Amino acid sequence: MSRQGTSVQVKSKTLALTGAKGQLGKTIQDCWASNPLSDEYVLQCFDRSQLDITSPASVSETLNSKDIDCIINAAAYTAVDKAESDPDSAQAVNQLGAENLARWCGDHNAYLIHVSTDFVFSGSKAEPYLPKDACDPQGVYGKTKQAGEVSILKLLPQRSIVVRASWLYSEYGRNFVKRMLRLMAEKEPLAVVNDQIGSPTSTHSLANFLITAVADKNHSGIFHWSDGGEISWYDFAVAIQEEGLKAGLLGRQTPIAPIPTAEYSTPAKRPAYSVLDRSQSILDYDLRASSWREELVAVINRLSSESKNVN
Ligand SMILES: NC(=O)c1ccc[n+]([C@@H]2O[C@H](COP(=O)([O-])OP(=O)(O)OC[C@H]3O[C@@H](n4cnc5c(N)ncnc54)[C@H](OP(=O)(O)O)[C@@H]3O)[C@@H](O)[C@H]2O)c1
Repeated sequence: MSRQGTSVQVKSKTLALTGAKGQLGKTIQDCWASNPLSDEYVLQCFDRSQLDITSPASVSETLNSKDIDCIINAAAYTAVDKAESDPDSAQAVNQLGAENLARWCGDHNAYLIHVSTDFVFSGSKAEPYLPKDACDPQGVYGKTKQAGEVSILKLLPQRSIVVRASWLYSEYGRNFVKRMLRLMAEKEPLAVVNDQIGSPTSTHSLANFLITAVADKNHSGIFHWSDGGEISWYDFAVAIQEEGLKAGLLGRQTPIAPIPTAEYSTPAKRPAYSVLDRSQSILDYDLRASSWREELVAVINRLSSESKNVN
């Protein structure tokens, strides 16, 4: 449509986002406005109070009238340790919730982009996990996330992708970066495990992938996404402190000691090695190969410039 030389774009499609108040959900909304896809799509965001994915009635009542072309599912039960004593809740969200969305998409000819985790792997490998590698989750969270993947790929094999990500953090919600900055600001000496290896991933680089996937729905199956590089939680804590000092978020250095997992017991077992091979994703979606350090600096700078509370 053109009026006196000004082109007016009609948004013809609707993208639905579930889990809109989580750290990934918030980041997707941040990234959306500056993405050219927002000229084409209306983004409709739903938090848990507006759309409870565990309830088929809530899914259909909320989505039926909206002519939705695609859903990004950023909703999940993510309390890894709590899941060990509350498996039914984890399963309801991570498996049944994923299943409900896949059924709805099947009935309404919509495409589903679902987010999963490196915790579907055992961690016994010594080189990056490929999407086709066998899953062997070690805890309830990973088991329920894997079950959600299986349901989606079975119910919606041609019209869905599962994007596994690892070690997510951002300026939003609760995550390792914000927790470390808070503890470092309290100036207590820290001990951080140095024998779990993975790839820290900013929700911004993941959001960029997910939005790119909305534009290119020719793919189906499992994809991996993480920021490039492999480090331990201890290495990550050291880098967070270095960048926090540079950005002025921290006033002085706090001692950080490397410790083995055996000295830091948690209810859920974590994979010792969970680096994801993202090469196919970069190739298929023509994505920029982000690096974990660059992405960390960007999040720390956002925390610093926006003076977001690190608590
Ligand atoms: N965090 C990580 O380190 C990490 C690593 C790898 C993969 N992932 C995956 O990445 C995705 C996003 O994680 P995140 O870090 O953004 O998690 P998050 O901050 O915990 O956000 C999850 C959101 O899901 C919502 N939710 C929970 N149950 C729901 C339900 N029944 N219906 C609708 N919404 C519901 C939560 O709402 P409430 O706040 O009301 O509970 C929350 O807003 C998840 O699939 C997760 O498994 C996360």
